[in-house]
Amino acid sequence: MAHQRLPAGALRASALLRVTKKPLFKLLQPSSTSSLFFSTSCIRNFAQQQSPHRRSRPQAPPKDSSLSDRYNQLKLAWRSLNEHPRFRTGASVFLIMLYAAAAYAGVQYLSDTKYKATGEPNPYKKREDVERERLNTTSIKDIASESGIDTLTDKDGGADDTTAPTSGKPGIPAPRDTTEIFDQMAREYDDKIWLEELTSHIWYRRRQVMKNVEGDVLEVSCGTGRNISYFDPERITSVTFMDSSRSMLEVAREKFTEKFPTYEHVQYVRGRAEDLAKMAAGSGQKFDTIYETFGLCSHEDPSAALRNFEALLRKNGRIVLLEHGRSTYNSLNETMDKKAEQRVKEWGCRWNLDIDQIVQSSGLEVVESDRYHFGSTYFYILKRAGDN
Ligand SMILES: C[S@@+](CC[C@H](N)C(=O)[O-])C[C@H]1O[C@@H](n2cnc3c(N)ncnc32)[C@H](O)[C@@H]1O
Repeated sequence: MAHQRLPAGALRASALLRVTKKPLFKLLQPSSTSSLFFSTSCIRNFAQQQSPHRRSRPQAPPKDSSLSDRYNQLKLAWRSLNEHPRFRTGASVFLIMLYAAAAYAGVQYLSDTKYKATGEPNPYKKREDVERERLNTTSIKDIASESGIDTLTDKDGGADDTTAPTSGKPGIPAPRDTTEIFDQMAREYDDKIWLEELTSHIWYRRRQVMKNVEGDVLEVSCGTGRNISYFDPERITSVTFMDSSRSMLEVAREKFTEKFPTYEHVQYVRGRAEDLAKMAAGSGQKFDTIYETFGLCSHEDPSAALRNFEALLRKNGRIVLLEHGRSTYNSLNETMDKKAEQRVKEWGCRWNLDIDQIVQSSGLEVVESDRYHFGSTYFYILKRAGDN
């Protein structure tokens, strides 16, 4: 049979019993004071050891080695480590690299400060960094005034280029600058259009556009920023919102700032799509994706706008378009033609343009295309000819 281990107090009690040969009750008698004290303390000890909640006695603090002892130990450890040749070599290399990095950062900082103070462009700065710095602004830039272009008579601007397949067709309104119309309706634009967009699933098409937008991007004719709801800051490294109407752009800016208050690389540019190439010439700025929704119909010269998109596109970049125009149904086109003039006055858009013809004649290659709403809504992904 396995022996159960008894606690020390109980063992001492049983030993005492064996020695005295007296029954326990005698030991408990008050006459024998010492025995009583002895046995009660044994019982207390035993009870304490058996109790699951026994009180632990306060322990004396362990003897701590003095601070100087520890310091000496550390010194010894460091010495023995320091004597190791591989450690010494590694530490030296690390320190040299650290000094070099600190010196490089110092020189960069000083040169940056100097160029910032003098206003000269910093030749040691990477071109991309300079571009990013330029983007890091929330003011609306006016490329028309910056580049001195505010008319469409410039040859490179292209508005007077008569190759545009948008004018002189029966039923199609004459091209015009619609900026003023949008300036006036900017504040009520969203209220006027949301229901129509909801019922015709335009929100879904906007999402489709934004899924194809990435990198450094330019939104042409951003209007009040109706695509901002689908903006993905994870995939978009910088965004330039551009529109010819300052009031529309202001609404877009308010929306974007509210939704993405910490997004840094955003800029707002007021100008005409027909003048975009001038902007490229000035800054050398290019984009991975240029997108436009329901903008070509509002331009005076949509073909010139497309040419400018191509000029501002980085290699293997993409142009994504969502537009409306002539339908694939003649009866619908007839109705649109009849109301086209009225539509321009009310909405600033020529809704019966042949968008497909404009795209085909641009020389851009179609990567993907689709049509919805009886062929009157057009979706395109385009690339420069020869690009991947
Ligand atoms: C029908 S709204 C579309 C706005 C926005 N893209 C959207 O999807 O809701 C057309 C926009 O094109 C702008 N616009 C008109 N002519 C322009 C031009 N020549 N260059 C750039 N933007 C222009 C107008 O100010 C307006 O904001």
